[in-house]
Amino acid sequence: MKRSFQSIFSAFLQRVIMNVLILGSGGREHALAWKMKQSPLCQQLFIVPGNPGTEALGTNLPLSVSDFPSIRKACADHQIGLVLVGPEDPLVHGLTDFLESADELGDLIVIGPSKEGAQLEGSKAFAKSFMIRHGIPTAGYREFNAENFEEGLQYLSAHTLPIVLKADGLAAGKGVVIATDHDAAKQTFTEMIREAKFGTAGAKVVIEQFLQGIEMSVFVLTDGNDYLILPEAKDYKRIGEGDTGLNTGGMGAVSPVPFATPALMKNIEEQIVKPTIRGLQQESIRYRGFVFIGLMIDSDKPYVIEYNCRMGDPETEVVMPRLESDLLELLMATAVGMLAGKRVETDPRAAATIVAVSGGYPESYAKGFPITGVESLDPDALLFHMGTTQKNGELVTQGGRVLAVTAFGKSITEAAANAQSQQANIQFEGKYLRRDIGYEFP
Ligand code: AMP
Ligand code: GLY
Repeated sequence: MKRSFQSIFSAFLQRVIMNVLILGSGGREHALAWKMKQSPLCQQLFIVPGNPGTEALGTNLPLSVSDFPSIRKACADHQIGLVLVGPEDPLVHGLTDFLESADELGDLIVIGPSKEGAQLEGSKAFAKSFMIRHGIPTAGYREFNAENFEEGLQYLSAHTLPIVLKADGLAAGKGVVIATDHDAAKQTFTEMIREAKFGTAGAKVVIEQFLQGIEMSVFVLTDGNDYLILPEAKDYKRIGEGDTGLNTGGMGAVSPVPFATPALMKNIEEQIVKPTIRGLQQESIRYRGFVFIGLMIDSDKPYVIEYNCRMGDPETEVVMPRLESDLLELLMATAVGMLAGKRVETDPRAAATIVAVSGGYPESYAKGFPITGVESLDPDALLFHMGTTQKNGELVTQGGRVLAVTAFGKSITEAAANAQSQQANIQFEGKYLRRDIGYEFP
């Protein structure tokens, strides 16, 4: 029997086992660690710094994700073969380039783009001009800074409402303001540029057209040439039911997205995914990792709202549970530029995740409340820690978003109902969650 290079290579990958280090401490990293742990190719798993959830899956190393020299030393000490970077911050600050240039780390694989590639998330102005250069559909925009500030004010005065203002740099998810009147827009613009409301992130501001429609997210794994599209998801960003109130990091997510028909997914692939990967290639931008594309779908037409250079949180908590393929095998294929022959196997069931948050979040909230009931979940429900810690042997709240529960179902409604009834097992003072995750998909 003549075997294809692909099948020989797959067989080779099956024989490689390695130590893996996952960077980050949230629900996303817990979900990635949970999935990684299932791979027969994963020998030892380390999480930096991890959380009480990841502790059960591997070894947590108490280092900061921004302490590059210590991460480099941990990679050497623990003979790490592959680093998977969860959050954007280290990527935007060049962790991938730093680790890849360390001679003692040899052929260490880093999943996460170069500093230049991470600019897709690290600079809104970079992302917008990239999209324009490559004909990728997105909202019309202009960029302004202290030098053309007055022109910016005039531009705002003449702009149709609502107006979207975006701080150029990373602003911990708070850098986007949607103004519904001109005075508010000008005030925000002034605060960003003249009063450094978002620090240096707001020294440059992107002003863009408001897009109508419904949002969804697409996750792409790329080796810089080829790509795979992972299960899509939709997240729920507002604190209140019916998508009301303040923005949060995400209160829940569902996958699949029922309106993402094969025809729409094909359009997204042709009009957005392919030109994005080709654009990175044409501009010689090194990119090996995830591209999370936030989309607005307006009457079946997709527009890019934003790129992220990593997976989403809480989207990962539904995407990883639906991924049937071996995650580490996919990441190894990414590392050696062999994604072309790979397929993404997906669990056909629907998944929903519901996030329990501290009372008061996303504004100020208290921490340190004991969490009970985590051991009472059904075996087929998944618990992902987001903001918890151990104190005197007790699990306590430590963040705004505390923990996510993911469940499956035949439909989004059933999955969400299951996630909600499993969440009811867990108690802590001030616990709040949305009871309407997936509400648009009866
Ligand atoms: P971002 O921080 O880029 O994810 O933006 C936060 C949220 O603001 C997005 O998820 C959208 O809900 C909204 N948003 C951003 N840009 C636009 C736009 N051009 N039109 C409408 N809504 C937007
Ligand atoms: N859930 C949105 C994000 O991870 O950026």
